[in-house]
Amino acid sequence: MIPFAQAAADAAYIVAALLFILSLAGLSKHETSRRGVAFGIAGMVIALAATVGLTAASGWQLPQGSLGLTLMAVAVLVGAAIGLWRARVVEMTGMPELIALLHSFVGLAAVLVGWNGHLGGDHLSGALRDIHHAEVFIGVFIGGVTFTGSIVAFLKLSARISSKPLMLPAKNTLNVLALVAFLALTVWYVVAPDLGLLIAVTVLSLLLGWHLVASIGGGDMPVVVSMLNSYSGWAAAAAGFLLNNDLLIVTGALVGSSGAYLSYIMCKAMNRSFLSVIAGGFGIAAPTGGDEAQGEHREIDAASVAELLTSARSVVITPGYGMAVAQAQYPVAELTERLRARGVEVRFGIHPVAGRLPGHMNVLLAEAKVPYDIVLEMDEINDDLAETDVVLVIGANDTVNPAAAEDPGSPIAGMPVLRVWEAANVVVFKRSMASGYAGVPNPLFFRENAQMLFGDAKVRVEDILRAL
Ligand code: TAP
Repeated sequence: MIPFAQAAADAAYIVAALLFILSLAGLSKHETSRRGVAFGIAGMVIALAATVGLTAASGWQLPQGSLGLTLMAVAVLVGAAIGLWRARVVEMTGMPELIALLHSFVGLAAVLVGWNGHLGGDHLSGALRDIHHAEVFIGVFIGGVTFTGSIVAFLKLSARISSKPLMLPAKNTLNVLALVAFLALTVWYVVAPDLGLLIAVTVLSLLLGWHLVASIGGGDMPVVVSMLNSYSGWAAAAAGFLLNNDLLIVTGALVGSSGAYLSYIMCKAMNRSFLSVIAGGFGIAAPTGGDEAQGEHREIDAASVAELLTSARSVVITPGYGMAVAQAQYPVAELTERLRARGVEVRFGIHPVAGRLPGHMNVLLAEAKVPYDIVLEMDEINDDLAETDVVLVIGANDTVNPAAAEDPGSPIAGMPVLRVWEAANVVVFKRSMASGYAGVPNPLFFRENAQMLFGDAKVRVEDILRAL
C-alpha cells in the first residue's frame, strides 16, 4: 500500500511541479495571466491531494496515526477558511502587506521544520548525518531571517511603524559580523549538534532579519518585498530537503529564483544596487537632505483646472497610490474620455513603482477601461513632458519628486522619476502637504508652475467633470 501511495505521490508531484512552471510562464504576460493563475491553482490542488493521500496511507499504520490525520484535516480546514476570508476582504492597496505577512508564515514554518529536524533526532551516520545537520541549521537561519524581515516589512507597509530607514551607527559591520557568526556556528553545529547552538542561530537570524529590513527606507520597499518573496522560496526549499519532499524543493527553488530575478529587475528600474539592497542598505550613506521642503505653495480650484484642461493641447496624467486609495480611476477614465472627445491629447505616465505593488496603476486603469495604447511607461513619456501643457499628478508623490534627480543628499537620490516639473503647468491632487511613502519632502509642490488641488482625488476629479 505505502510503496504504491509513494509512487502515486511522486508522479503527482512531477505533474504539480510542471504546472507551477507553466503558471510562472503564464503570469509573465497580461494576456496569459489568468491561465497562469489557473495552472497554479491546479498544481496546488494536486500537490495538496497527493500529500494528504500519502500521509493518510502511511498514517493509519502508526499507533497515533488517526490523531495526526485528524489534526492535519483540522489545520487544513482552518487555514483554508482564514485564507479565503482574507483574500475576499483584502483591498488592492493592502496586497503588499498581506503578501509580506504570508512570507513570514513560510519563514516561521521553515524554522519549526528545522527545530523538528533537530528534536526528532536522526538515524543517519557519516556524511549524510553532517548534511542533515547543515540542512537543519541553514533552514532555521533562512527561515528566521525571512520571518522577522517579513514582519518588519508588514509593519512598514501598513504604516504601523515609520518607513524611514533605521540607521544604527555600525549597521554594515553588524550585518557582516552576523554572517561570520552564522558560518562559524554552522561548522560547530555540524561537528557537535548541540541545542544551545540551535537556539543561538535562531536568535541571530531573527535579529538579523529585523535589522536588514528595518535598515531599508520606504522608497526601496518594493525591492524588499520581492526579495523576501525570494527568501521565503529558499526557506521552503530548505524545509523540503529536511522533509525529503522533492516538490517543496522544486517549488521553493522556483519561488526563490523568480523572486531574486524580480528584485534584480526592480533594482535596475530604480537605479539601486541589488547587492546593496539585499545586504540591508550596505554602502548607502545616511541621507543628508533636510526633513522639510521650503517655500510657498499655490492652490487652485476644480473650476480653474477645468479651464486649464480645455485650453490645453496635450495633457499627461501621472497617477500614484492616492488614486488607488480614493478609487479615483473611474472619474479619471471619464475625464480622459471627455477631454479626448474635445480633441485634447491625453496620455498616462506610469512609474514602475507607483502605488504599492508592481503594475498597480495599470490594473486600476484597465479596470476603468482606459485604452492600453495611451498608458505609457515612465521611459516612454519622460522626454515628452517638457512639451506637455498640463500634467495632472493624481495621488502620486515620491514618483514625481524632483529631489531624486536634483538633490544627491536625498534618501531617494538616483531613483528615476517622472519629470513632471518640466511641463508648462502641473496640478497636484492630494489632501495635504504630507510626504509620500518614502517620507521625503517634495519640492515639486513649491515650483512656480505647480499648483495644489487639495481634497480627496475622486471628489476633486468629479468636481472637474461637473465644471467641464
Ligand atoms: P506615494 O509617494 O505613496 O504618495 C501618495 C500620495 O497620495 C500621498 O502623498 C498622499 O498625500 C496622497 N493621497 C493619499 N490618499 C489620497 C486621496 N484619497 N486623495 C488624494 N490624494 C491622496 O505614492 P507614489 O508616488 O505612487 O509612490 C509609491 C511609493 O510607494 C514609492 O515610494 C514606492 O517605492 C513605494 N512602494 C511601492 C511599491 C510598488 S511595488 N509599487 C511597493 C511598496 C512601496 P495626502 O496624504 O496629502 O493626501
